[in-house]
Amino acid sequence: MQEIKFQRTTLPALGMGTWHMGEQSAQREAELTALRYGLDHGLTVIDTAEMYGEGRSESLVGAAIQSYQRGDLFLISKFYPQNATKQRMRQSLDASLRRLGTDYLDLYLLHWRGGVPLSETVAGLEDLKRAGKIRYWGVSNFDQVDLLELAQINGGQHLAANEDLYNLGARGVEFDVLSWQQKRAIPFIAYSPVAQGDVRGRLTENTAVQQVAQAHQITAHQVLLAWTLRQPNLLAIPQTSNWQHMQENIAAAAVTLTPAELAALDQSFPGPTRKQPLEII
Ligand SMILES: NC(=O)c1ccc[n+]([C@@H]2O[C@H](COP(=O)([O-])OP(=O)(O)OC[C@H]3O[C@@H](n4cnc5c(N)ncnc54)[C@H](OP(=O)(O)O)[C@@H]3O)[C@@H](O)[C@H]2O)c1
Repeated sequence: MQEIKFQRTTLPALGMGTWHMGEQSAQREAELTALRYGLDHGLTVIDTAEMYGEGRSESLVGAAIQSYQRGDLFLISKFYPQNATKQRMRQSLDASLRRLGTDYLDLYLLHWRGGVPLSETVAGLEDLKRAGKIRYWGVSNFDQVDLLELAQINGGQHLAANEDLYNLGARGVEFDVLSWQQKRAIPFIAYSPVAQGDVRGRLTENTAVQQVAQAHQITAHQVLLAWTLRQPNLLAIPQTSNWQHMQENIAAAAVTLTPAELAALDQSFPGPTRKQPLEII
């Protein structure tokens, strides 16, 4: 498993996303099985949010991790921008911790920018860190201009990660965000790394993707994940409710694409040559 340096910790470069999980009782057993398969095979990072199913995703994660050592896990959750004030983020965090059945988060993210001044949010997050309720804090859906603004704020230099959309079909962040973070060793968390399942087949039915899949005897989704994971300083958090897909995702993290394969994929899905608006889901 590829690894990533996260502050003083080393983490697997593959984590587990949980958006849309915990929402349907008929799916619960499959979801728990998938998450525990991941946990049993070295995936210690779980990404959730108060927004996901209005807390039901966090509750599902709480159930999945019950019999695992808390210290072995790296739990990420996020608060809504409207809860980014000092007082409200503390309430949000307490509710998230209750649902997760833990007394601290490893990483707490502002889900996206809203109306609360960044300076107040950062001050609130630093308070939570001092209180031992979170180990690190970060942001999500920040573009380079937002990161630059954040870096100027008192305490902003403690930013531990930024989580943005990134996959073979959405490469805009390569232009400036990824390199900015790489230069500063601020881990980049790639969400939707398999393009939300690529239901329309724009990526997975592409000839170059198919050829790479054939060459490695893997699926097109695994190619997408291996492609995203090629970047250093990057943590990818695909979501799956299917333990066999979890198994495939873990296997994909061990696949190295050759320069020729990467060039072929670039031909079909070129990287950005100028600034592009940040893509957000
Ligand atoms: N910060 C943010 O604003 C933000 C936004 C979006 C997402 N996220 C986080 O990032 C995570 C991942 O993003 P995402 O859920 O949007 O998209 P994703 O991980 O790119 O795609 C998830 C979809 O891909 C399918 N899938 C996963 N692995 C597969 C495989 N090996 N083969 C075939 N299908 C596969 C899943 O279906 P199956 O269940 O059938 O496998 C699911 O429908 C989220 O769950 C969430 O934790 C954060």
